[in-house]
Amino acid sequence: MKAIEWMGNTAKILDQTQLPHKEVFLELARYQDMVSAITELKIRGAPAIGVAGGYGAALGALKIKTASISEFQREFHTVCQKLAATRPTAKNLFLALERMENTASKITDIKQAKEILVAEAIKIHNEEIEATRKLSRLGAELIKDGATILTHCNAGPLATTGYGTALGVIIQAKEQGKKIKVFADETRPLLQGARLTTWELKNAGVPVTLITDSMAGYFMSQRKISCVIVGADRITTNGDTANKIGTYSVAVLAKENNIPFYVAAPTTTFDLSLASGELIPIEERKANEVTHFQGVSTAPEGISVANPAFDVTPHRYITAIITEKGILRKPFEEGIRRMLK
Ligand code: MRU
Repeated sequence: MKAIEWMGNTAKILDQTQLPHKEVFLELARYQDMVSAITELKIRGAPAIGVAGGYGAALGALKIKTASISEFQREFHTVCQKLAATRPTAKNLFLALERMENTASKITDIKQAKEILVAEAIKIHNEEIEATRKLSRLGAELIKDGATILTHCNAGPLATTGYGTALGVIIQAKEQGKKIKVFADETRPLLQGARLTTWELKNAGVPVTLITDSMAGYFMSQRKISCVIVGADRITTNGDTANKIGTYSVAVLAKENNIPFYVAAPTTTFDLSLASGELIPIEERKANEVTHFQGVSTAPEGISVANPAFDVTPHRYITAIITEKGILRKPFEEGIRRMLK
């Protein structure tokens, strides 16, 4: 099931807000449709948002009507700015849009502009698929036969448009014949774990047990978890990692219980412009995601709400970072700089 597919002059996405009960595909023809789809989490997950940003920019380019290259570049810049304003935390979105703008800045023939930009978006997508394929293979070596793995949020094919990051590693380990089991945190407030991770693992034939977020510590203390593996939305130069809210708590619990904590992410998630995690912009989402459950109010009217969508796990809690270019261990900074050179 593809999270996103380029259809020639439209982008087809699987609406992730309707999963697991309905498999609804949406065909997006305008970049504004992609802006809404990303904002509303119809397509989500850091690498997938990057790919969606590239295709969104391509959709915008297809609709620009001018014979002037500089005017084309100006209008294209506006399209990219609108896409960039959708979600602030995942680095992949900004990297993809930078690539698209950089490609647009080199255009010398207006007749070829649209074709070149569509080709670049497809290239971004193909590279992301390849990166997740490679990192899944590399990461699977860390998973021992018989392991029970805890994961948080959703870092599978849906979130990456490829093989998945955390789930890519898990599915690959299963395909290598290892007998593994997974505990999936439901991941409040939008339940990416309950709705998407369990769905993807079930489809891949990996035994999965759904738990609420607050049960993770209990199962660790019962020695039921062999390792934790999560994805990432942005990784800074020192290895600090932003990921779905709740990841930090899981990392601290893993350290307390002597359980390895792995992060899996493609190199497009790294941000060498930031020295450490406190500089990562954290998205604050709408209050009704917390006060309502599938449209039904679960809190007193007008109650004050905080809803940060991500938190940052300091690098000291991370055992290893799995990328398509290799597995990084401490000290991360040296390895990250060398890898991204
Ligand atoms: O808000 P979302 O669903 O876009 O959250 C992003 C994520 O899916 C996770 O944080 C994930 O673990 C990293 S992306 C593979």
